[in-house]
Amino acid sequence: MTYLILKYLHVSCVILSGSGFFLRGLWMLDNSPRLQQPLVRVVPHIVDTVLLASAVAMVVISAQYPFVVGWLTAKLIGLLIYIGCGSMALKRGRSLRQRRFFFFAALLALAYIVSVAWTRNPLGPLTWIG
Ligand code: HEM
Repeated sequence: MTYLILKYLHVSCVILSGSGFFLRGLWMLDNSPRLQQPLVRVVPHIVDTVLLASAVAMVVISAQYPFVVGWLTAKLIGLLIYIGCGSMALKRGRSLRQRRFFFFAALLALAYIVSVAWTRNPLGPLTWIG
């Protein structure tokens, strides 16, 4: 029961985090001042913290750990790439071209993580092809 609640919480945060990132990416491309609103700056940190905390709780309850179970290792690496590319896209990218590239790369990383979660296989989308 607790596990199921955590999983729903995790997936809800995934939807909020992904759609929020997509929206902020569009604002970044549009050079919109909305990106600087206090709420827009704070809420993603809260959502991402809950997303990660629910992941950690499920990992502990199920006793399936990254660096032991392949698909969890893949998700963790995917998450680091998503965070790195996301930060380049929204904050650190030096030119619009660079920011656009990293925005696209972060969305790809996110799609990869979701595909790994669904297939429970580090190959992600390739699982469906093979
Ligand atoms: C942006 C990062 C993440 C995204 C987009 C994401 C996405 C998802 C999705 C969509 C599911 C539901 C899968 C289903 O429908 O069965 C899920 C479940 C899960 N995720 Fe994540 N996840 C992320 C980060 C993580 C991390 C870092 C970990 C731990 C290393 C993790 C561990 C889990 C676990 C244990 C489940 C439950 C699997 C199950 O029992 O069915 N997630 N994740």
